[in-house]
Amino acid sequence: MCGIVGYVGSRSVSEFLLEGLHRLEYRGYDSAGIAVISDGEISVRKKAGRVMELARLVEEQPLFGNIGIGHTRWATHGETTDANSHPHLGGNGEVVIVHNGVIENHDSLRNQLIALGYVFHSQTDTEVAAHLMAHHLSEQLKLNSDEPCVDTCLRAVNLTLDRLKGTYGICVMFRDCPDTIIAARSGSPLVIGVGKNEYFLASDSSPLIGCTQDVVYLADNEVVVLNATGMKIAHRTTGRVQPSIQTLDQVSADIDLGNYPHYMLKEIFEQPTSVENAMRGRLDEGEATAVIGGLNLTAQQLRTFDRVVLTACGTSWHAGLVGEYLLEEFARLPTEVEYASELRYRNPPISDRTLVFSITQSGETADTLAAMRECQRKGHPTLSICNVVGSTIAREADGGIYLHAGPEIGVASTKAFTSQVTVLSLLALYLGRMRHLSYPAGKRIIKQLREMPEKIEEALKCHERVQEISEKYAHFNNFLYLGRLYNFPVALEGALKLKEISYIHAEGYPAAEMKHGPIALVDEQTPSVFIVPKGGIQPKVISNMEEVKARRGPVIALACEGDKEVERIADDVIIVPDVEEYLQPLVCAIPLQLLSYHIALLRGCNVDRPRNLAKSVTVE
Ligand code: AGP
Ligand code: GLU
Repeated sequence: MCGIVGYVGSRSVSEFLLEGLHRLEYRGYDSAGIAVISDGEISVRKKAGRVMELARLVEEQPLFGNIGIGHTRWATHGETTDANSHPHLGGNGEVVIVHNGVIENHDSLRNQLIALGYVFHSQTDTEVAAHLMAHHLSEQLKLNSDEPCVDTCLRAVNLTLDRLKGTYGICVMFRDCPDTIIAARSGSPLVIGVGKNEYFLASDSSPLIGCTQDVVYLADNEVVVLNATGMKIAHRTTGRVQPSIQTLDQVSADIDLGNYPHYMLKEIFEQPTSVENAMRGRLDEGEATAVIGGLNLTAQQLRTFDRVVLTACGTSWHAGLVGEYLLEEFARLPTEVEYASELRYRNPPISDRTLVFSITQSGETADTLAAMRECQRKGHPTLSICNVVGSTIAREADGGIYLHAGPEIGVASTKAFTSQVTVLSLLALYLGRMRHLSYPAGKRIIKQLREMPEKIEEALKCHERVQEISEKYAHFNNFLYLGRLYNFPVALEGALKLKEISYIHAEGYPAAEMKHGPIALVDEQTPSVFIVPKGGIQPKVISNMEEVKARRGPVIALACEGDKEVERIADDVIIVPDVEEYLQPLVCAIPLQLLSYHIALLRGCNVDRPRNLAKSVTVE
């Protein structure tokens, strides 16, 4: 988690840092801070709370200069106080750092540094790295007093990194080397923006949009030295790296809120377009299949796999569950969906004919990355379904499929889910057409997929109705979400959305499983949200609704227009378009996203920045 920014050049640095932190705030919002070097002094402004509060502080106590670093924190070690905010000074203020990640051996290092006389001002693991840098700097200065300052500082950074266990994206400035930023990564992302006589640094590309289109993604174990006239990248063990400059194709509009009050609402309403973008150029009518370019495996190779493992966290894991149903139905490929956090430490038997996909919006989720690396280490081809271009997972995967959903900034994932489901249905069609799926069946699926953007548009028409329903239900403290088959993962996703942004306890279950335990929760105070559009086993789900009603549980139902039976039983009905069962997640997710959005607003919650969460979870 957390966002890092840095700049060296001729702009007024505070403005860039503050604007960059605003854009990165979705990654963590416990506190924010900046450090600037000017007139040979490092000055720091930092504050617990949102970037807005830091901006106010900087307005009162401005910082002028052309080189600086900044941070927006998602606390792992130490409370969310001013003192624990980054940047942290090391020694007597000769070093300043910002850090994303966790230093696992912070405790023993802290004791060693205290014994050496260093005084700690925070409870963070990060301050340990700051003092360690200062310590190595003073040692190196004693040994090599004649060499250029930047070389000494770089050596101090490398010696410090040698001693850190854990993960880091780190940016450092040295008081006595006032034109240089040194940054390094191991496990936490960093991207460099290349300008004309200026360089930018950030945890992801959003702060760079509008500043430069040329970017370099730093890889693990690389260290970069930046000043206004150049950058030097070196791998910590293999030495000098020739930077590969890539073009950023995002524009400011992608990250603007436009007329929407929240990113979450904007992103919900973007879904007709984001789903269309996920399919663009990927449907082949002639062959009745999907065109998937980036897998880096031939049709012959793909044909040899007889099992699929999908691994992910959170919402992406829910999309994976829909993927399991799709791949098994269309391609008859046995599929398992693994929590990445479990897969990374489990030792499941995965044969060499198993294809592994990691599914991730951000491409930075630490657990998903670790699970992917573990599978790669064992020699499995490991592909990704990812949204953020150039992210660590996208780069390290052996191949993959991008979502093309555009930046998702709301912490609650919405459009990424529907894009992931869309891409998984393309994948199932593609792998299916290599196996059991007939030409007419492929044609039919393509036709239905093409209709989806319109159907999602239609689903969004429930907005006002959902708003009314939210008013009626916002005061309840427990909810059940129930659906079957393709709508079971949607129930899980609906419950997660409500939990994460309105802090209401919600459970998702397969509707029929309810009677094996959760039914004990049903009473007048526990509403159940049933996902019950038309389909083969709809009558069974209707019976489950009856069971809840018989116990006086309030029922909200998502159903197709004119479904008299559902209308008779449910207290409130939300209409969803009638689509094929396997595509129902794409339309049924929409009202549930809106329901959680409105309930959260009514309860006064911060929809885009829910408490305790961050957009990309780059710690274990
Ligand atoms: C979704 O609303 C959550 N905030 C979270 O569960 C998220 O889906 C999860 O952390 C995985 O993120 P990723 O897709 O970026 O890997
Ligand atoms: N571990 C550090 C802290 O708690 C950095 C956390 C982050 O990545 O924001 O301050």
